Amino acid sequence: MKNSIIKGDVLSVLKDITDNEFVDCGVTSPPYNKKKVGGGDSFRKVVYENFDDNLLEEEYQQEQIDILNELYRLIKSGGSFFYNHKIRHVKGNMIHPLKWLTKTKWHVRQEIVWNKRSAVEFSGYRFYQRDERIYWLYKPVNNNIIGKRLKGKDATLGSIWEVPPDRKNEHPAPFPLEIPLRCIMSVMRDVSNGIVIDPYMGSGTTAVAAKLLKHNYIGIDKSQTYIDKANKRIVDYKQYSNILDKENKLHYVKKSYKQRKQKMGLF
Ligand SMILES: C[S@@+](CC[C@H](N)C(=O)[O-])C[C@H]1O[C@@H](n2cnc3c(N)ncnc32)[C@H](O)[C@@H]1O
Repeated sequence: MKNSIIKGDVLSVLKDITDNEFVDCGVTSPPYNKKKVGGGDSFRKVVYENFDDNLLEEEYQQEQIDILNELYRLIKSGGSFFYNHKIRHVKGNMIHPLKWLTKTKWHVRQEIVWNKRSAVEFSGYRFYQRDERIYWLYKPVNNNIIGKRLKGKDATLGSIWEVPPDRKNEHPAPFPLEIPLRCIMSVMRDVSNGIVIDPYMGSGTTAVAAKLLKHNYIGIDKSQTYIDKANKRIVDYKQYSNILDKENKLHYVKKSYKQRKQKMGLF
């Protein structure tokens, strides 16, 4: 399973994995159940090659809860899962991801706003939505929901991440490499040769990030076409080293937490 993308339906594949607590971290972006909405006001419709992303909303949310609970079983206590989604509007009603995330076993540790700086819809019913969200989900150790601190050089990135979309990727809905790089790098500083899971692997972006950071990956996707393309990207992961170098430069602080508190007279 390690360093491969399993072809199949995500929930069935996860349920078939009998080992528990062997994965260090995960990052994913599921399909958003968006096909029905958007009218004619989208710059770009997301069309997947082998499914129509069109479940009843209640079914969709229950499936996401079931998948996230399976992932909770696989991830180690103290481990993290980063879940990228967005606020959707259906017939005027806002659907917020926290509606189902708070029904999972996970502790929602942070909501990060991903400012993509570009919107896909231009209807004017609302101010253009240029953001998506990234939920940092945390699996507590012995019910301690606080968990370990991030290093200052990672925390300094803040809770609004400005990262433009990856327009070079042919997949219909990829996230840019910076997103999984930032997530994995920030929570896995103390882990070497760890395992990172992405249950909706798409074009393999999370796997490329894991490889660049010298970790292993496990992926799932139901499209053989996307898996084949992802595997090609993963083989060539070193071509993305420049993005890792740029990301590394952002993870920097002049002063430690202690030095900053001392300066403010808090010690
Ligand atoms: C939003 S895309 C993920 C893109 C990925 N983050 C990237 O950067 O390329 C969602 C992916 O999930 C896959 N998918 C959708 N439903 C699935 C299911 N039930 N089981 C497995 N894979 C699924 C699709 O084929 C698609 O590649």
